Amino acid sequence: MKILVTGANGQLGRDVVLEAGRRGFPVVATDLSEMDITDPAAVEKTVLAEKPDCVIHCAAYTAVDRAEEEPEVCERINAAGTGNVAAACKKADAKMIYLSTDYVFDGKGETFFTPESHPAPVSVYGRTKYQGETAVQAALDKYFIVRISWVFGLYGKNFVKTMIDLAGAREEIGVVCDQIGSPTYTKHLAPLLLDMAQSEKYGVYHATNSGVCSWFDFACEIFRLTGQTVRVRALSSEAYPSKARRPKNSRLSKKKLAAMGFSPLPEWQEALRDFIAEYYWEDNGDGKDQD
Ligand SMILES: NC(=O)c1ccc[n+]([C@@H]2O[C@H](COP(=O)([O-])OP(=O)(O)OC[C@H]3O[C@@H](n4cnc5c(N)ncnc54)[C@H](OP(=O)(O)O)[C@@H]3O)[C@@H](O)[C@H]2O)c1
Repeated sequence: MKILVTGANGQLGRDVVLEAGRRGFPVVATDLSEMDITDPAAVEKTVLAEKPDCVIHCAAYTAVDRAEEEPEVCERINAAGTGNVAAACKKADAKMIYLSTDYVFDGKGETFFTPESHPAPVSVYGRTKYQGETAVQAALDKYFIVRISWVFGLYGKNFVKTMIDLAGAREEIGVVCDQIGSPTYTKHLAPLLLDMAQSEKYGVYHATNSGVCSWFDFACEIFRLTGQTVRVRALSSEAYPSKARRPKNSRLSKKKLAAMGFSPLPEWQEALRDFIAEYYWEDNGDGKDQD
């Protein structure tokens, strides 16, 4: 099975390329310099030349706050760019896996959003990712839309790395406690995406790590695992203003994964433990006494 990955230098793209390699699949790793997804001719040329069985589309504009200031740039990449990838997949008769987000929902209420729940994004980023979803659905039958949230991995910047760095520099950190969701560890997600690529069980899925927490809970667990001593102060979203509105309720139901015969991702605490063992303790000791 030949896999073409977009956004291959990003957090998730790196782990997807590694996992495809582990499975012995030929993999074409593309990022901005190899294939700019906003250039329809370049996308079509590359995809038709490579003839992948599946395109795993990880490339995106992911600067959620900056997107509020440059909505056209964000839309060009997340909406039009995704449409270009979908059109090329159609021509090449390739499957497509599109990574989407909890930000397609408005975050109201306290119940779990299912893959069938009605999207109503409240930010530019969320709106453009949803436009990407509709572009994929309009162009293709053989697609997977996989909504994930709070992504962290070994490569690139993320919340976990930021917290670890801040704890080294400050005595107290304020963290939002009224946004509830689930972290997604790229190393746990990548095998699921490859399992999907090898299947014909098309459709919309939610695929974060299992369990839910607030950003505050997430931060506290990071410091419990690293042993860093820093005071963590619980903040309301109102006390931590940002340019983009973020959904307070990002609970995503993952029941469809098991129902369709896919393995759900491990609990988020296990994901964090695995990540910190590799990212933090390999540099700072072996961590054997930490848990
Ligand atoms: N990060 C999260 O918390 C989160 C949450 C929910 C969903 N997601 C989704 O999950 C997917 C992977 O996220 P991630 O965190 O791995 O993203 P990431 O680290 O920001 O990686 C995205 C990659 O896409 C590249 N890219 C940007 N514009 C491009 C273009 N025009 N053509 C080709 N490549 C381009 C970026 O290159 P540059 O760095 O050079 O711009 C980067 O290497 C994305 O679809 C994202 O929307 C992420």
